[in-house]
Amino acid sequence: MTKSIQASLLRAARAAEDRAYAPYSQFKVGAAILTSSGRIFSGCNIENGSYGLTVCAERVAVFKAVLGGERKVKAVLVYAGTVKLTPPCGACLQVISEFSENPEIVLSNGRSTKTYRLRELLPLGFRF
Ligand code: THU
Repeated sequence: MTKSIQASLLRAARAAEDRAYAPYSQFKVGAAILTSSGRIFSGCNIENGSYGLTVCAERVAVFKAVLGGERKVKAVLVYAGTVKLTPPCGACLQVISEFSENPEIVLSNGRSTKTYRLRELLPLGFRF
């Protein structure tokens, strides 16, 4: 991924993080997805008083991309303003894998970034 695309993803993820609804955990996350056609979709975590109904930022972004007519994820950037970088949870990795081969997964806290590949984080995702 070019530096300018990564910068655009980070900008989108940070703007999404600003919209995070996380009154229970206070842990705000933003995600941005680059699709194969070059479009960017963002998402934030949306919590619920019935805790288990919470949806992570990454899944919101993937679902928005699918609704927008996109089915191939090329890259995902996850932003959280924490000291340690925040990787996607297992459920989000599985959802990302449904719509991708082996995309880049970029983690950022605004100060440092680390790039993985989906298959490093989810070597054996479920496939029908
Ligand atoms: N969360 C995300 O949105 N993405 C992640 O990668 C990890 C966790 C959210 C879910 C919940 O709202 C909060 O972070 C604490 O778990």
